[in-house]
Amino acid sequence: MSQRILVLPGDGIGPDVVSVAVAVLERVADRHGLDLVLDQALVGGRAIDETGSPLPPETLEKARASRAVLLGAVGGPKWDDLPTLSRPERGLLGLRSGLELFANLRPATLFEPLAAASSLKPELVANLDILIVRELTGGIYFGEPRGIEVVNNERRGFNTYVYSEHEIDRIARVAFDLARKRGGRLCSVDKANVLEVTQLWREVVTQVGKDYPDVTLSHMYVDNAGMQLVRAPKQFDVVVTGNMFGDILSDVAAMLTGSLGMLPSASLAADGSGLYEPVHGSAPDIAGQDKANPLATILSVAMMCRYSLDAPAAADAIESAVNRVLDEGIRTQDIAPPHGDVRIVGTRAMGQAVLDALD
Ligand code: IPM
Ligand code: MG
Repeated sequence: MSQRILVLPGDGIGPDVVSVAVAVLERVADRHGLDLVLDQALVGGRAIDETGSPLPPETLEKARASRAVLLGAVGGPKWDDLPTLSRPERGLLGLRSGLELFANLRPATLFEPLAAASSLKPELVANLDILIVRELTGGIYFGEPRGIEVVNNERRGFNTYVYSEHEIDRIARVAFDLARKRGGRLCSVDKANVLEVTQLWREVVTQVGKDYPDVTLSHMYVDNAGMQLVRAPKQFDVVVTGNMFGDILSDVAAMLTGSLGMLPSASLAADGSGLYEPVHGSAPDIAGQDKANPLATILSVAMMCRYSLDAPAAADAIESAVNRVLDEGIRTQDIAPPHGDVRIVGTRAMGQAVLDALD
C-alpha cells in the first residue's frame, strides 16, 4: 500500500535543503521497497505572499491526508514586521496543532568527526547522545487567554501556561518508551518550585513512571537543567519537558554538538504520523546560494523512515551514509574546521555525496 508524503520546502534555505533530502528519500524508497507518493504545498512566508495565509487550508488538508510531512524552514526578515498571529511561524504552529503533533523528538548527537566544533571541551561532549522530548501542542505556546490589552492606560501582555493531566501523561509515555529503548534514564524538567502547572507535571510524570520500573526517573528544575547541560551534558539520556522549556533546552543541547546544521527532528502524533524538519532555521542570508548544509534535513528523512514509515533499515542506511561522508572529510562551510584537511562542498554536492555513500 502506498504512503503519502507531503513536502513543504518553505522559506530561505528550506527549498535548497529539501530538494536534496527528497532525492535521498526517493533513493532509499527505491532500495528498500517503500511505495511513496510525494506531493508539495506552500507554508510560511511564501504561502503568505501567494495566498495571504502562512498555512493555507489546502496545505493543512494535504498534510492531514499524509503519513509524513517533510518541512524545510519558515520565516525571514521580509515577514518580520507582521503581527504575531499572521507570521510565517504560525504556519508551523498551525501544523503542529492541526495535526496534533504533541511529541517532538530532538536528538542532540555528536558526530565524532565534528567534535572540535562544540563550544565545550572535547572530553565533555565525546559520544554525546541526548534525546530531548518536548511537548509540542500545549503549554504556554497555546494556552488561553493570551494577548495584549490596555489596563489603566498602559498595555499589558499575557499568556497562559496550562497543562491537563492527559497531555502530560501521553508525552511522559512517549519519553519513557524511548528511554526504555535507549539508556534507560529519563530526566523530567520542570519549575515545580514556583509554577503549579509544573507541580502537576511532576506528579503525573511520577505516576506514569510506576508503569516503567525499568527506567530510572529523575526530576530537575529548568534553570539547573540549563546549567547541567553545559556543565556535564553526558549525565542526560532522555529529557522530557514542556513546550517552552523544550524550545530553549533543545537549542542549548544543539549547540553542545557544535553543529546546528546537523540536527534533525520529528514531531509525532498518536497514530505515528509525523512532521520531520531540521532544527535549524531558514538562514535567509545564504538562501538559494547552494551553501546550506542539507544533512539535518537528510537525517530528518532518516527519522521519518524510522518513526512513520516503519523502515528502520532505510533509516540506518541514511545515518551510516552521512557518517561515511563526514569520515571522508566532506563538509559544507558551516561544519568545516578553520584549518583542516577537508573538502568544502555546496548543498547539492553534499547531497550527491550522501547518495553515493548510500550505494
Ligand atoms: C522551534 C522554533 C519554533 C518554536 C518557532 C519558529 C515558532 O524555535 O521549532 O524550536 O518556538 O517552537
Ligand atoms: Mg526553537
